[in-house]
Amino acid sequence: DSGKLWGGRFTESMDPLMVSYNESIYFDRAFYQQDIEGSIAYARANVGTGILSQEEFLTIEKGLKQIIEEWNTNKFVIKSGIDEDIHTANERRLGEIIGKDIAGKLHTGRSRNDQVATDLRLWLRDELVLVQTLLIGFLKAVTERAESDIDYIMPGYTHLQRAQPVRWSQWLLQYGHYFGTDLQRLREVTRRVNKSPLGCGALAGNVFGIDREKMAQELGFDGLIHNSMAAVGDRDFILETLMWSAMLMEHLSRWSEDLIIYGTAEFGFVKLADAYSTGSSLMPQKKNSDSLELLRGKAGRIFGQMTGLFISIKGLPSTYNKDLQESTEPMLECIKTVKDSLTIATRVLTTLTVHPKKMLAAVTPDMLATDLAEYLVRKDVPFREAHHTAGRVVALSENTSTPMDKLSAAQLSEVDHRFEKDASKAFDPERSVELKSATGGTSKSAIREQIIVLREKMSEA
Ligand code: ARG
Repeated sequence: DSGKLWGGRFTESMDPLMVSYNESIYFDRAFYQQDIEGSIAYARANVGTGILSQEEFLTIEKGLKQIIEEWNTNKFVIKSGIDEDIHTANERRLGEIIGKDIAGKLHTGRSRNDQVATDLRLWLRDELVLVQTLLIGFLKAVTERAESDIDYIMPGYTHLQRAQPVRWSQWLLQYGHYFGTDLQRLREVTRRVNKSPLGCGALAGNVFGIDREKMAQELGFDGLIHNSMAAVGDRDFILETLMWSAMLMEHLSRWSEDLIIYGTAEFGFVKLADAYSTGSSLMPQKKNSDSLELLRGKAGRIFGQMTGLFISIKGLPSTYNKDLQESTEPMLECIKTVKDSLTIATRVLTTLTVHPKKMLAAVTPDMLATDLAEYLVRKDVPFREAHHTAGRVVALSENTSTPMDKLSAAQLSEVDHRFEKDASKAFDPERSVELKSATGGTSKSAIREQIIVLREKMSEA
């Protein structure tokens, strides 16, 4: 026997490189608690099947609780080369504590296949709740800033060209929309993660009539995976988490990109707090937006983890194959990155300095050319014609090197006699944003409505 948990049929020992190539204990130890809680629930259910007596269960439970304590206090000693993964490590230790006669009964009808799926789902479910809290914290920062900064007006861009004035709050709340939708998706993903595979054995189910529903309830699962082969072979819940994370990071990346641009000297709309910037080792004047650049850069890594796992899984035959072990590390890394990223983004936003004067100064009169066309529309001119006429005013401004709002009433009425004295009011940015009062627009009332809608999303269960 090779000294392994599964060593009965083996005569030769493993290649040492194969041992380390195969082992997952150095990362799946992250689930020590979930592994033990799963084992306690499994042992309790096996009192019901008659596999364990109540006394044996209590002995197992006591031993398992001691093992949690050892992990918690950093006293658990991993036996290198023997403790292949967290499941074998905990079972090996249980045997040492309570003796192999009783400990050896725990795994009856169970496989590491349903065990690892259980551990992963329990761990991920709890982490996704933390992610949800962080995401709501970020959205809270977005809505608070949108409220407090509602007076600030900035250029809105399309094609990164100056387009029309908007409120800074409108810029903030567009991301409120993206991240609010991420929050809704996250709640759905979490519900699907939180289903129990426990009690499905290696692939075919349990012969001792174990009460899966009762175990699921004890572990806080919201229902079961209803097919034993799917229970052990499914890693869609991790893929879905990675897809969700990829989209979240895509949004954080675009958000970061905007702020990086707005923070350049050329724009000067925002200034990053020192705490989230770094300097240059060569150029003394430099202050770089490293936090935002890392948010943008880490998005790429998450896309890679998602793609990588898809490729690892797509050609697998049914049920458990060791390839599935490759889903653990991307999941652990992804969750850490997402949590850190949301925390950094929240802190960047709450400490960000905004320069409303610079923003407003960048709203040039030509950005109100549409408003000038709309002036004519209000006089019953068809929009196509009004657009053309306002375009001629733009051309006149360019040809005479006169800002549009400095053209005289006479010059305007020469372009079109329907421009009267009051035409110049079109060049007021405040008026321009306030006119967009239909739902979703950039007037104060429309923005307050958006904040209410977003807050409702945040407080949904
Ligand atoms: N360490 C394994 C994993 O993470 C546990 C399951 C192993 N099962 C097996 N039959 N080899 O996927």
